[in-house]
Amino acid sequence: MIIRPDADAAAALVARIIAKELRANPHLVLGLATGRTMESVYRLLVRMHRKEGLDFSLCRTFNLDEYVGLYPDDPHSFRHYMNEHLFRHVNVDLRNTHLPNGQAPDLDAECRSYEASIARFGGIDLQLLGIGQAGHIGFNEPLSAFRSRTRVKALAPLTLEQNAQSFGGTDRVPRRAITMGVGTILESRRCLLLASGPAKAEIIAKAVEGPITAMISATALQLHARCTVVVDEPAAQRLGASEYYRRIFATEPEWEEFRCLE
Ligand code: F6R
Repeated sequence: MIIRPDADAAAALVARIIAKELRANPHLVLGLATGRTMESVYRLLVRMHRKEGLDFSLCRTFNLDEYVGLYPDDPHSFRHYMNEHLFRHVNVDLRNTHLPNGQAPDLDAECRSYEASIARFGGIDLQLLGIGQAGHIGFNEPLSAFRSRTRVKALAPLTLEQNAQSFGGTDRVPRRAITMGVGTILESRRCLLLASGPAKAEIIAKAVEGPITAMISATALQLHARCTVVVDEPAAQRLGASEYYRRIFATEPEWEEFRCLE
């Protein structure tokens, strides 16, 4: 659990961790997320590609989710989001970028084949995650089974509300999405969750320090052997043990190289 002074510093830390993993393993299988929080992470990765030659040419990516019913070139689709925020600005081979196909004629077959592709590439090395206000990771809405795999999920009312703005009204938000399951996410070798802003403070405290419950999918990450949660000060306000987390980041050798990031 790492607390950074503001949203930019939190995103910078996440981008640096991703870059370090990618440099250590150019064939990294990278799990990606969409949403407002991730925009600054992708902006920083693009900058590192341009200025420091961060190389995406051999990596493979798997996104967490995609809306059912949207074509890939729909401006609201997650494929479009990824192309605009990351893929078209870096040297990733688009054939190595994977998102579920929300237009597949047989959605269950699509979900099975998505899981099979992840397995074919040896599983996800590093999974980037955001968190919804109801505690979802991916689109694993309340009561998602911790053993769930990639499947179609109906979106919860709070998720529809949260996404209403970008669609121009709650009625226009697709009702369903394909999402990796909680079980799929837990199988990735490392998880990296980023949250910022006061609206995430309550759910972050519940996710990190609260009891494990399927009502809050993010609490499943407490079962993961290597999960790092990065938040800014406003999102850290409800944490009970924040002084302890600060001390770990300030003193543990693992974080030394990341401390100087503003
Ligand atoms: C998106 C995703 C979601 C978001 C979450 C936070 O691919 O999987 O879980 O990460 O809804 O979204 P923002 O960052 O917009 O608050």
